[in-house]
Amino acid sequence: MALAIFFFSSKFISFKIKKVNKMQKELIKWYQQNKRDFPWRKDQDPYHIWISEIMLQQTTTEAVIPYFNRFLTTFPTITDLATASLEDVYKLWEGLGYYRRAKHIHETAKIIVHQYNGIFPNTHKEILALKGIGPYTAGAICSIAYHMPTPAIDGNVLRIISRQYLLKDNIAETKTQKHITSIVAELLMGYDASAFNQGLMDLGTTICRPLNPKCDQCPIQKTCLAYQNNQQKVLPINIKNIKHKELHYITGIITYQDQFLLFQNPPGLLENLYGFVQYECESPYRFQEEFENQYHLPLSIVSYIQDIKHVFTHRTWHMHIYHFVIDKPIKGLYTLDDIHNLPLSTAHLKVLKSFLKHMK
Ligand code: ADE
Repeated sequence: MALAIFFFSSKFISFKIKKVNKMQKELIKWYQQNKRDFPWRKDQDPYHIWISEIMLQQTTTEAVIPYFNRFLTTFPTITDLATASLEDVYKLWEGLGYYRRAKHIHETAKIIVHQYNGIFPNTHKEILALKGIGPYTAGAICSIAYHMPTPAIDGNVLRIISRQYLLKDNIAETKTQKHITSIVAELLMGYDASAFNQGLMDLGTTICRPLNPKCDQCPIQKTCLAYQNNQQKVLPINIKNIKHKELHYITGIITYQDQFLLFQNPPGLLENLYGFVQYECESPYRFQEEFENQYHLPLSIVSYIQDIKHVFTHRTWHMHIYHFVIDKPIKGLYTLDDIHNLPLSTAHLKVLKSFLKHMK
């Protein structure tokens, strides 16, 4: 799960953290005594940690083990990986799925050789900037390889923290994810971040599971507010796409000679911004009827252009773009030069670009 890392504190968090100060110690002690035995846990070489974290992004630990071993036997150093052919890298990835990961690893290895002398970078900023590395993976690499106090927030951590603190907020929402990230950032301070983060990974997989958590075996049961309130089978709240609407439009690029028909949005969504005419319907012929009813002007369909998706906070627009022409001028026609000076919504800027690309 891709999450931004936010390090902020609030009175609320400090209060909660003081209350459960023991939690980190208990988790770390438990991890040190019970950690699962994985080949990527045998050393802290950032190259090894990087490869393991990329492989683990969409794949289970059991499936990753043989791939990880074969990969590092074939490419013992970043330079070996960078000088291999992409085909050889793909071959070693065969069966692991999500092959874009292999391509990114290969490209990144070349960058590391050229920009960093073959030595894996050691700052959070540089690591996060590498291809295929999002906030979770950057946090995991920095904490495991370099012991930096960087949170690595995935579904396991969102669940464990929701339960520990009895957080009833929806973990599918970005603001909840940011809040939990800030809690973990505070929890990490002064503790072994590698053991803490990997402790969370192991706890989430083996004990604090989504269904039927094994609370009787949990090292942090004493500080778990969900357990104390018998809410461990209710939390976390994870309601996806709450209030999120999927809307399908026929979006019309309507032209008259070298001019485009635009309208200015009324108050509400995208207020005052300019956009193309679109109707919530599923056929350009239905669009034609709607347009002719509204504008009292005949409209001819020229061609289908492309489908484009634009995601807003509470809705997604699926815009099925068609080119139409009118044979008489009306109010609201603009040349491309005019349009450059008009505020267009981002969604319809994408529509315009798609059309211009199509017409090239
Ligand atoms: N999942 C993602 N990273 C992991 C790690 N380092 N150990 C175990 N499971 C993981």
